[in-house]
Amino acid sequence: DNEADLKPRPPVVTIMGHVDHGKTSLLDALRGTDVVRGEAGGITQHIGAYQVTLKDKSKITFLDTPGHEAFTAMRARGADVTDIVVLVVAADDGLMPQTIEAINHTKAAGKPMIVAINKIDKHDANPQRVRERLLEHDVQVEMMGGETQDVEVSALKKTGLDELIEKIQLQAELMDLRANPNRDAEGSVIEAKLDKGRGPVATVLVTRGTLKVGDVFVVGAESGKVRALVDDKGRQIKQADPSMPVEVLGISGTPSAGDQLQVVENESRAREVAEYRQGV
Ligand code: GTP
Ligand code: NA
Ligand code: MG
Repeated sequence: DNEADLKPRPPVVTIMGHVDHGKTSLLDALRGTDVVRGEAGGITQHIGAYQVTLKDKSKITFLDTPGHEAFTAMRARGADVTDIVVLVVAADDGLMPQTIEAINHTKAAGKPMIVAINKIDKHDANPQRVRERLLEHDVQVEMMGGETQDVEVSALKKTGLDELIEKIQLQAELMDLRANPNRDAEGSVIEAKLDKGRGPVATVLVTRGTLKVGDVFVVGAESGKVRALVDDKGRQIKQADPSMPVEVLGISGTPSAGDQLQVVENESRAREVAEYRQGV
């Protein structure tokens, strides 16, 4: 892409942190909706990918990471699409193994991190202790003389959310994130499933270009033609711009998370590439 073709795109923010520290609740609060209450046992079954539109019309894409064993897999696949990591630390629990894992991963990936100290509403919340423990892991927040942004939030009481959004926007501005929307689309599969009624469905984060209904594509070792695009609100849309998460229908089979989607010129070319990748 030429420099002149690059247009500003929304930041892609991945929410990470220890199990039950409130990742999904925070994401839910940020969306102004309530998904978490519908979750059986409160455990995230799927990786959520949502785009919020703010008062000033700017957008932020959020990716949720589930707890437990899926965490490691998500770390690997989330790495290349993430611009900014929001590390959620419960102010009562403090730093836990997966918090430290997330810190190490974020550093290794060279991604900027914002710390959201959550559950600040709890009587035993101790945000200062969190800041001190972060220091032990070489994360120096401003109050401790460093440059890492931190913000006290309560996903439950919905406090600190505007400040968190502001810090994300500030970080994004510094990064000057751009992509060319006027080219054949490329994207990354966030999750994929075989849906009983709809067939294979992949949630794709468009990384560059604009993905349109009717586009012919290769995704991993599968191919297809976009039959429908569904946004995070369940609405059918005609096209998806850079940084937008979208469900793609019309795939030959179910791809894997982390697979790359690429629009190609025609169906025979798509099949050729897919067959090559299948080793046929
Ligand atoms: P996993 O996806 O299972 O790792 O959990 P998670 O990090 O997404 O946490 P989740 O949002 O499911 O929240 C875990 C529990 O903490 C739930 O019972 C929430 O209601 C509760 N919780 C989340 N945020 C807050 C908060 O700000 N204050 C209080 N008091 N409770 C919270
Ligand atoms: Na949970
Ligand atoms: Mg969750």
